[in-house]
Amino acid sequence: MSEDDGRVVFEPKIVGFLCNWCSYAGADKAGGLQRSYPPNVNIIRVMCSGRVDPQFVLKAYSAGADGVLILACHLGDCHYKEGNYHAMQRHRMLLRILSEHGIENERCRFDYVSAADGDKFVKIMNEMVYTIRELGPMDRLNCWSDNKLKQGG
Ligand code: FES
Repeated sequence: MSEDDGRVVFEPKIVGFLCNWCSYAGADKAGGLQRSYPPNVNIIRVMCSGRVDPQFVLKAYSAGADGVLILACHLGDCHYKEGNYHAMQRHRMLLRILSEHGIENERCRFDYVSAADGDKFVKIMNEMVYTIRELGPMDRLNCWSDNKLKQGG
């Protein structure tokens, strides 16, 4: 939580899985352009979005994240050919799992950021933080139990 004009503002914790070859380079591009974005996103660099096992996402929620971002190369640009297609399919599956547990789909966003998309990267960061702020903290007690997580949903 932080204070803004005396009002308490919820500062969400967001985990961002960024593919090394495009999205992480896009984050670097944003830095090179000296664009600023909220510090709420903890970035985890993965070699490919296809490396993001759904268990990583569930573990992030279990560990206290209010939202998760998965950023990939654009379709057709994955350095491992089909990793982002697999990631896209897993994301759809994740949304179904989250829905079954009462977790809003907006808490898990999948998008594409290329190495040249510095401005898009910043836009996604800002949108994600705004969206999760609007949703508020994740209600872990009511929508997710450790037992369900250990069983993989
Ligand atoms: Fe970027 Fe596969 S290398 S999504």
